[in-house]
Amino acid sequence: METKITVFSSTCNLCTLLILVVLCFAAAPSHASLSFNFYAISCPGAEFMVSNTVRSASSADPTIPGKLLRLLFHDCFVEGCDASVLLQGNETERSDPANTSLGGFSVIDSAKRVLEIFCPGTVSCADIVALAARDAVAIAGGPAFQIPTGRRDGRISNAANVRPNIVDTSFTMDEMTKLFSSKGLSLDDLVTLSGAHTIGLAHCNAFSDRFRQDSKGKLTLIDTSLDSTYAEELMKKCPAGASTSTTVSNDPETSLAFDNQYYTNLLAHRGLFQSDSVLAKDGRTRKQVEAFANDQESFFRSWRESFLKLTTIGVKTDDEGEIRQSCSFAN
Ligand code: HEM
Repeated sequence: METKITVFSSTCNLCTLLILVVLCFAAAPSHASLSFNFYAISCPGAEFMVSNTVRSASSADPTIPGKLLRLLFHDCFVEGCDASVLLQGNETERSDPANTSLGGFSVIDSAKRVLEIFCPGTVSCADIVALAARDAVAIAGGPAFQIPTGRRDGRISNAANVRPNIVDTSFTMDEMTKLFSSKGLSLDDLVTLSGAHTIGLAHCNAFSDRFRQDSKGKLTLIDTSLDSTYAEELMKKCPAGASTSTTVSNDPETSLAFDNQYYTNLLAHRGLFQSDSVLAKDGRTRKQVEAFANDQESFFRSWRESFLKLTTIGVKTDDEGEIRQSCSFAN
């Protein structure tokens, strides 16, 4: 009898173990092979080398953090976070008009060069893009936190995939929600990640359709949700016939600081893009905008979570993809 119980109980233990193993695998996220400190043994200095490169590039050029952050967004939304946005060539993502204003490539290349010296063939460009964006936020005064690594680089980069996967400033809330949700991101993630517009620059053509200057130089608001004083300021910086390379700060109040000023701007009708303004207008997102405007810590807490989700979209791991030798070209 006793033996029976023992057998029964050890069988049960085995069952429990098996069930747990099955459950673990079932519950594991799709990015199961990413891990914190993935390079701890293969390249212990990897994260330090990336952050050092980002730090020195940003102190030489304070526009770098914004560029690196946007680069990550455009990488992850098209083909997943696999550095496909870095590949050069005809008809690659990078060549698409929606990506011509991207920057920060040289910083990624510098980091990769250093890493190839110390840890050849080990650290993916996809991880460098994610780490560099994470560091860019911290350098600009935003939250600093760990992210898992172990992404592999993609071999596919197709210009035709860019437009269907990148949000345009003319998108309605429904269109943005749909695209974000197709990437596993919620409405809260949309509000949180749009907070990236607290730093960085925008070219005039990204918002100039929101107002018009008549022949006498007088302002006519086309998008009446825009504060008219702010529109006047924008019109002065972007007069008709301004150079196509003219830029303005996304957040003119604290342009270099990663803070919650973006949300205060939205409430004051001073969101730069139509897609920003809509977050304060729409009943589904207004409360979140108010909460972040009132409490920077709650924005930073959400940022950590949403950023983790962004950086794990469609990642390639294990034997998928490759570790590129040069970030601009597949091996
Ligand atoms: C939700 C919809 C979004 C739209 C419609 C949008 C659109 C844009 C546009 C048009 C620009 C100006 C580009 C230029 O003229 O050079 C811009 C800049 C920027 N975007 Fe977004 N964006 C969105 C979401 C995001 C997200 C999720 C992030 C990152 C998490 C992001 C990060 C940035 C940054 C940092 C800049 C400044 C880039 C620089 O300084 O070069 N954006 N965005």
